[in-house]
Amino acid sequence: MEEISWELFERQVAACRRCPLYAHIQHKVPGQGDPHAPLMLIGEGPGQTEDEQGLAFVGAAGQLLTRMLSAIHLPRERVYICNIVKCRPPMNRVPAPEEAEACRIHLRMQTWLVRPRVILLLGATAARYTLDPNIRITRDRGKWVQRKGVWMMPTYHPSALLRDESKKPEAWADLQSLRDKLKELGLYTDLL
Ligand code: URA
Repeated sequence: MEEISWELFERQVAACRRCPLYAHIQHKVPGQGDPHAPLMLIGEGPGQTEDEQGLAFVGAAGQLLTRMLSAIHLPRERVYICNIVKCRPPMNRVPAPEEAEACRIHLRMQTWLVRPRVILLLGATAARYTLDPNIRITRDRGKWVQRKGVWMMPTYHPSALLRDESKKPEAWADLQSLRDKLKELGLYTDLL
């Protein structure tokens, strides 16, 4: 069997037809950033701008995400950013369970290659498919869980913050908690 590598990952995503989403897109959006980042961020799925550019979190939500990371002194190039599904769902709908399941092999390979110490789950979809299908983001955000040695925390999706400013203080508390966790683990010591 071919050895797992970034090259294999990119090829596998490019050729993927495991669910019907590929038929409607302009570009696959595998994810990008530091390939060995200690911190990985997982969102839901590409939106329109992401689909146009083939890059994760480059639209309005992505710009907010970049500002959120800089608020805790993390340049986004130093983290790895990706999504549960690599193809844009039509009309930005939530990915169907079969679509998220079909795409899981890509996220698995990606996580194996990056080997992050900490994962920030952006929104309910990311948290449900990664941690627990019963997660409610308003109830469970900000809570740390350790899985196979990796620390994970769900927080609001930046799009939710754009829609509802009143969530920002909680999102800020989660960011502080993220910074504290990274510091506690001795990560990003040149920045934090
Ligand atoms: N929302 C997401 O979940 N992911 C993106 O890449 C962009 C918007």
